[in-house]
Amino acid sequence: MKYRHSTLCLFAMLAACLLFLQASNPTQTSSDELRPAGAFASIQNKAERSAAIFREAGKVLLHPRCINCHPSGDRPLQGDDSRPHMPWVQRGLGGLGVAGMRCAGCHHPENFEPAGIPGHSPWRLAPARMAWQGKTLSEVCAQIKDPQRNGGRTIKQIVEHMSEDGLVGWAWHPGPNLTSPPGSQQRLGELFQAWAKTGAVCP
Ligand code: HEC
Ligand code: HEC
Repeated sequence: MKYRHSTLCLFAMLAACLLFLQASNPTQTSSDELRPAGAFASIQNKAERSAAIFREAGKVLLHPRCINCHPSGDRPLQGDDSRPHMPWVQRGLGGLGVAGMRCAGCHHPENFEPAGIPGHSPWRLAPARMAWQGKTLSEVCAQIKDPQRNGGRTIKQIVEHMSEDGLVGWAWHPGPNLTSPPGSQQRLGELFQAWAKTGAVCP
């Protein structure tokens, strides 16, 4: 009797343990939350921890709010399905649009909510070498680290861009018709800080 009781006990403990492990497993995350860097502290290997942190930040980077301005072609994309921008506009010099169809002609310093036109100053398309559309997260990571393709930035400047850039921040205030990436710009910045600190390893 006593033996059976303790076996049951052991099973109960095992089950509790498994539940706990599942809850604390950093690779299992739901896509609508952005976990803080501390959630990855249990990964002992520093390089693996770094890559896991980047993978978490990837929930933001691959979100349509970012991809739509970092397209592979010469046209911006729009909406959560990243369809080609209507009206038909083109990158133009400095990503500001072409004559007669400048971005700023329609996109104002603030979102224009009655017409659902997103806005921020400046409003322009990321250069072609910074295209993320259609790329895997590993490819985006390698590109972000490459000064030839990231606008000559150091890792520290990438962390700053993620933490402070206004167009990055706009993604969390896109107006009523568009969804936002998970988390906040602050949390994204903290993840990038932790990523840099652990050696900026790509997944
Ligand atoms: C309205 C358009 C727009 C949106 C929205 C936008 N970007 Fe950008 N992004 C740009 C432009 C323009 C540049 C180039 C700026 C420069 O080099 O000074 C850029 C450059 C960058 C860079 C530095 C270069 C590189 O690719 O490594 C990063 C990092 C970046 N964006 C991240 C993001 C993230 C993350 C989001 C979404 C949360 C986002 N961007 C949303 C327009 C946009
Ligand atoms: C003639 C007006 C007009 C011009 C010019 C224009 N846009 Fe737009 N843009 C819009 C409208 C309207 C929307 C919103 C469409 C909707 O949601 O139905 C939009 C949406 C967008 C979006 C979608 C944001 C998202 O994440 O869904 C991006 C990105 C964008 N524009 C970038 C640009 C860029 C970059 C330029 C210049 C190269 C530009 N636009 C020029 C009218 C314009």
